[in-house]
Amino acid sequence: WILMTTAQTPTNIAVIKYWGKRDEALILAVNDSISVTLDPQHLCTTTTVAVSPMFQSDRMWLNGKEISLSGGRYQNCLREIRSRASEIEDEKKGIKITKKDWEKLHVHIASYNNFPTAAGLASSAAGFACLVFSLAKLMNVQEDQGKLSAIARQGSGSACRSLYGGFVKWVMGNEKNGGDSIAVQLQDEKHWDELVIIIAVVSSRQKETSSTSGMRDSVETSLLLQHRAKEVVPKRIIEMEEAIKNRDFLSFARLTCADSNQFHAVCLDTSPPIFYMNDTSHRIISCVEKWNRSEGTPQVAYTFDAGPNAVLIARDRKVAANLLQRLLYYFPPHSDTDLNSYVIGDKSI
Ligand code: DP6
Repeated sequence: WILMTTAQTPTNIAVIKYWGKRDEALILAVNDSISVTLDPQHLCTTTTVAVSPMFQSDRMWLNGKEISLSGGRYQNCLREIRSRASEIEDEKKGIKITKKDWEKLHVHIASYNNFPTAAGLASSAAGFACLVFSLAKLMNVQEDQGKLSAIARQGSGSACRSLYGGFVKWVMGNEKNGGDSIAVQLQDEKHWDELVIIIAVVSSRQKETSSTSGMRDSVETSLLLQHRAKEVVPKRIIEMEEAIKNRDFLSFARLTCADSNQFHAVCLDTSPPIFYMNDTSHRIISCVEKWNRSEGTPQVAYTFDAGPNAVLIARDRKVAANLLQRLLYYFPPHSDTDLNSYVIGDKSI
């Protein structure tokens, strides 16, 4: 026999960034972060997990290619989920799996991203969230989303935020074992549905410095990171929660852009410096800043993760249509920039 289940998880984009760990093995952050979860139609991971007595070992395929599961992050997620597996009985199929059986049974995992892997589009976030969610479903794990988010966090920090839709906060927590370092939903997917997100895929190439090694270097060498984590982010988190609650686009845009810029300033303050944005990214920032200033009030917020792709958040559909027109005019796909395409989504799931 074989038992299978499939799940789909969207990626999320941080508007207050997570950058830096206080515990590398457990993946505990040096500051809280806030993100918006995208519509799964556009940027998501789909994962099918299967269990069968015929399987000899745990195996995983990512976008059709087998990958190793030996890394600590995969092992941590598998171990945490397995230890919470509970009994399943399907009389029709004549299948009964006890808690003890789960310790010996192996799983096969097939995962697909509908967007470029590791190009700074937070593919690990959707990937680990989906892995944990689908395994928990298969193994009949009886835990709430918060607990599952803490398990996904051990795969990739940003993954814990993808277990919820809408606006999500990853609370860094204080406990040494990370028990209180979980994601919580601030507002659901319907709360601010005028917002439209457009991602300008400036490059779909794999980034040169992974977030993991980049943030390790920043923690070790950047004084700005210490200041950011202790002094700046705690205040911004409070202000951002308030802006989201009140659908206050002016504050939302101001905080989102400032936080993205400070994150990239921390990258520059790292030794050796890390450059995630390129010329096209910088030109997009100038273009949005100019437009916002000419309107007298922000129309669009921008944010960049660990790569050159621009995530642009328009205040409503009309602004989004105007934005797309401007982008296509100033940054036509496949021109002298290495800009490939635009992904349009809304933030709901
Ligand atoms: C810039 O979650 O990819 O996107 O925990 O080492 O897997 P690891 O890092 P990851 O880092 C994401 C960094 C970021 C900001 C964010 O998503 O908050």
